[in-house]
Amino acid sequence: MRKKYLHITTFGCQMNVHDSEQMAVLLAEQGYEQTEDSTKADCILINTCSIREKAEQKAFSELGRLMKLKEKNPDLIVGFAGCLAQHLGARVHSRVKNVDLVFGTHNIHRLPEMMEAVQKERKPVTEVGFSSSLHSLGIFAPPRDGAISAFVSIMQGCDNYCAYCVVPYLRGPEKSREPEDIVGEIEKLAGCGIREVTLLGQNVNSYGKKSGRGDDFVSLLKKINEIEGIERIRFTTSHPKDLSNELIGCFGSLRKLCRHIHLPVQSGSNRILKRMNRGYTAEEYLEKTARLRRVCPEISITSDVIVGFPGETRKDYQETIDMMEKIRFDSVFSFKYSERKGTAAGALSGKVPEAEKRQRLKELQALQDRHTQEKNTSLEGSVQEVLVEGPSRNSRQDMTGRTSCRKIVNFEGRPELIGRTVPVRISRGYLHSLRGKQISS
Ligand code: SAH
Ligand code: SF4
Ligand code: F3S
Repeated sequence: MRKKYLHITTFGCQMNVHDSEQMAVLLAEQGYEQTEDSTKADCILINTCSIREKAEQKAFSELGRLMKLKEKNPDLIVGFAGCLAQHLGARVHSRVKNVDLVFGTHNIHRLPEMMEAVQKERKPVTEVGFSSSLHSLGIFAPPRDGAISAFVSIMQGCDNYCAYCVVPYLRGPEKSREPEDIVGEIEKLAGCGIREVTLLGQNVNSYGKKSGRGDDFVSLLKKINEIEGIERIRFTTSHPKDLSNELIGCFGSLRKLCRHIHLPVQSGSNRILKRMNRGYTAEEYLEKTARLRRVCPEISITSDVIVGFPGETRKDYQETIDMMEKIRFDSVFSFKYSERKGTAAGALSGKVPEAEKRQRLKELQALQDRHTQEKNTSLEGSVQEVLVEGPSRNSRQDMTGRTSCRKIVNFEGRPELIGRTVPVRISRGYLHSLRGKQISS
């Protein structure tokens, strides 16, 4: 029998990437092997994101490009999945003809039956219903050969309704997985050679709060810390309003917890934070980051910032810049505010002109680049524990890995080191990576 090939393009966040891994596993059970080459695929899935308008445009232009392949090969199955598919539902079929499959974020586990329906009936299938069960979260994705790091979803959805954000509408209400299921999955991953897990949720800090069982995020972390074979634990994303002192304390007490926190601040202006419905003030954020650094002085703190939220004046923007100067993040993902239909911010007045947003973003990114460079330069001469991931992309003599703070380190080394944690003395700090030399442990 001829081999069947699957090509997946992923546009979104880490959760979206993990969803793609799960889709690949489900289709592998139906005999599909993954390929990078879309021209030889029998099935193409586009896993979309809807967080900003640009993400939507990219997904549609990719869909347009791939539909040309279907013109040449009518047997090709094309699926549109993820957050944008969730948002548009059947409207995808009216915008683009001949898409076979449209399915949302709660329907991943039904992919095999949807594929069967497409193949048998040869008519478009749309599945974008929400479900309160967590079927899709529990799909076990065995790691690729040689992988040392894996994602684990610990919860679905979000209840925070930040004024600018579509995620609660696309991923549904917040619901946590049972701790036993999560621990079981991580034990299984450890058995497959995984050394590092990244726990995924839109707001991991509120893990378990709704269950009423008393299993909160800190108790989950403590359980994972005990799992043999796992050396590093990461999580994303933390919401500042729910970052408890107990969780901050874990950075000092849990050996396997990596010294990095991604803590999106969004703005340094209290007026804007309030309009964003973020639930904390700039002062509270500063206090929490100071506490994090007291508990763990070397911790890397990264963040997300939005510029040009409706009503953001030059003064509000300056307060964000002042906050960045005070905190000195290790790195920041920064975005121009993008209006999303149906969100509370869509109805707010005070829209900031595009050119002004662009200017603010440019200034902010230049400042952050200086801070990132300073941070990375300050690591020169230090010894970092590097978990080796594989050969470096740029040189065959080099291995690449990450520090506990999640910085990329390239150094001369052999493939036998893959999966091991080795001490590396940093010789040079660049903007996006560090260079070093392995020292004997
Ligand atoms: N749940 C996570 C991530 C949400 S999406 C969290 O709360 O941090 C990732 C980032 O995209 C957000 O932190 C925010 O900075 C940005 N973002 C979300 N909606 C946006 C919008 N409408 N316009 C611009 N940036 C947005
Ligand atoms: Fe969006 Fe806010 Fe939920 Fe993050 S916490 S996903 S920004 S609504
Ligand atoms: Fe995008 Fe959905 Fe993630 S909108 S950022 S893929 S949760």
